[in-house]
Amino acid sequence: MIRKCLFPAAGYGTRFLPATKAMPKEMLPIVNKPLIQYAVEEARDAGLQHMAIVTGRGKRALEDHFDVSFELEHQIRGTDKERFLEGTRELIDNCTFSYTRQVEMKGLGHAILSGRSLIGDEPFAVVLADDLCLNLEGDGVLAQMLKLYEQFRCSIVAIQEVPREQTQKYGVIAGELIREGIYRVNSMVEKPRPEDAPSNLAIIGRYILTPDIFDLIADTEPGKGGEIQITDALMKQAQNGCVLAYKFEGQRFDCGGAEGYIEATNFCFEHLHKNTF
Ligand code: UTP
Repeated sequence: MIRKCLFPAAGYGTRFLPATKAMPKEMLPIVNKPLIQYAVEEARDAGLQHMAIVTGRGKRALEDHFDVSFELEHQIRGTDKERFLEGTRELIDNCTFSYTRQVEMKGLGHAILSGRSLIGDEPFAVVLADDLCLNLEGDGVLAQMLKLYEQFRCSIVAIQEVPREQTQKYGVIAGELIREGIYRVNSMVEKPRPEDAPSNLAIIGRYILTPDIFDLIADTEPGKGGEIQITDALMKQAQNGCVLAYKFEGQRFDCGGAEGYIEATNFCFEHLHKNTF
């Protein structure tokens, strides 16, 4: 059974400067809720209780967000503003939060390896909070992936079809379709040029990983951009055994950049928050 979710949140967020100069990108709000809270809620809704967050310098606000704020809560007690903190409070009461720091920002693979001591020797989920995933029709993306894990017991990456000209922004897979929306991965390329991309199936920020991934990452040399890439370690896993790619149901917004962020804000205001204010 999967109990833990890892949130790599140590990146610099350079696409969002200057907003991210002194503030973690994961604290950027979509309407009135920070990205990291949407991510933790998705994990909690999938039944996970242990939230493990990989932070870095300048990321203290993430820890403060999932802690009580006595003065503030005292101040708004009995007013109609109390309801704004109910969701956060519910997470604090029902989940555990643990933190570790990635000391050098050497890529997503390295960030995941930095979380090893929080995860231990068990399968786990990974959520990148700047990829906001929503499914208004049913289970969240992580819940969908956990169901799949129960059947297949191997690492799973979430994928989405992207326009060919955008493959350079993603890890891209090639695989054999084994069931509608599910591929067995044969190869994986990090940020390929459109002409070199093996398909237009791009990996987005949701993963289920089996714990052997840690040793595989530790053996991985820096790849594209001098970063330790999770795709390189996953490729080894795919060659030795099995990695699945899953075309999820729902919407995904790349909130690491302005365009996706604004789309997400409009979408969430329209569908989730309109009656909040
Ligand atoms: P991104 O590729 O979006 O990088 O990382 P970034 O540094 O956050 O943002 P830009 O591109 O400079 O604007 C994808 C995810 O991996 C995490 C990020 O926090 C983000 O959630 N990450 C990336 C780390 O935790 N550590 C790293 O060294 C790199």
